[in-house]
Amino acid sequence: MAQLLLGENNGCSLSNPLSFPSPHCCISNNCYSEKEEAGSLGVPRPLCINDGSTRSERAWAYWKKLGEPKFIVAPMVDNSELPFRMLCRKYGASAAYTPMLHSRIFSENGKYRRVEFTTCKEDRPLFAQFCANDPDTLLEAARMVEPYCDYVDINLGCPQRIAKRGNYGAFLMDNLPLVESLVKKLSLSLSVPVSCKIRIFPCLNDTLAYAKMLEDAGCSLLAVHGRTREQKESRSARADWNSIKAVKETLSIPVIANGNIRHLEDAHHCMEETGADGVLSAEALLENPAIFAGFRTGEWRGYGGKEGGLDQADLVLEYLKLCRKYPVPWRMVISHVHKMLGEWFRLHPDVREELNAQTNVTFEWLENMVQGLKGRGTRLRLYLHIPEGCQE
Ligand SMILES: Cc1cc2nc3c(=O)[nH]c(=O)nc-3n(C[C@H](O)[C@H](O)[C@H](O)COP(=O)(O)O)c2cc1C
Repeated sequence: MAQLLLGENNGCSLSNPLSFPSPHCCISNNCYSEKEEAGSLGVPRPLCINDGSTRSERAWAYWKKLGEPKFIVAPMVDNSELPFRMLCRKYGASAAYTPMLHSRIFSENGKYRRVEFTTCKEDRPLFAQFCANDPDTLLEAARMVEPYCDYVDINLGCPQRIAKRGNYGAFLMDNLPLVESLVKKLSLSLSVPVSCKIRIFPCLNDTLAYAKMLEDAGCSLLAVHGRTREQKESRSARADWNSIKAVKETLSIPVIANGNIRHLEDAHHCMEETGADGVLSAEALLENPAIFAGFRTGEWRGYGGKEGGLDQADLVLEYLKLCRKYPVPWRMVISHVHKMLGEWFRLHPDVREELNAQTNVTFEWLENMVQGLKGRGTRLRLYLHIPEGCQE
């Protein structure tokens, strides 16, 4: 299977001009043994068991076997790649999504597969996310990742222009029979369950009917981003937790809430308010991958927050170390450096300019840049929140 997934070329030679000095793909380096490839939990086909249990009971049994992960790294194109997932997992994330993978390109192009989908034994539970508009193509792509993930996820939420042009993501909300056929195809054919990530409709009843249709089609877990397709800018519209709550009350499979999770207390409030079984966080994690371990940036320090002995520079250095171990395209590395050090770059724009001017970035250069910034005496401290009433 590893050969099938990775093709004959064993390395990640990238289309990006800044390619890695020592090409490496985790699967190709046998982080997985043949035996382990058979699926992490040995759970039988979700819809093909005839033991008298209902589909939702099986969905729950599976979720429980995974340990009911509550704090989940959301799918992010170019940003929820293996080293970032591993960093978030170290700091409290209990599951993670891959970035969205394009099912047609994935099924056709070995180089795309090798570069865009890397994982390792410790990278579980894992949702492998695809965009798609053809059930057979989606199934072909999904079969290639099923030994390495715990759910195959369908992206039904991308609101970007590229999704409109490609007819996938949130634009499939205009063609629900097609969505139904995608979910049915996978749920009847794969050895791992199917999950979906949706946006809400402006009208609650439409959202509920949509969610129910997905569950009936064989979706075993639903992540609900509480914004509509038109609310593209997360920062400009608060996610609607009431709609998520209504979906949770309507469905009998696990439901995960997405939107407005900026620190750990948000995650707890969201689960309390919506009844959701877990939360996804995206943008806030990019700045602070340690959210799920209780760390907050200065912006969210709050009354009584105390220094947690960690700062964003430490996280960047840890991230770079993980990138050496699990290589990914430089565009992803640079993107994370900018997001984690954004505040520092605002204070020291000359360093940002120097980084932007680099034509041949190396890990050494980035590590020296971080040390140089530290040497300027500015810290980007992370804080641990102390709940009200617990101050000394
Ligand atoms: C950089 C970036 C890339 C994203 N890529 C994806 C993606 O590949 N698939 C997807 O379903 N959502 C994607 N999203 C949306 C997030 O998963 C999430 O639904 C959205 O950002 C709302 O969560 P937040 O409020 O915690 O940021 C992306 C978001 C960001 C910021």
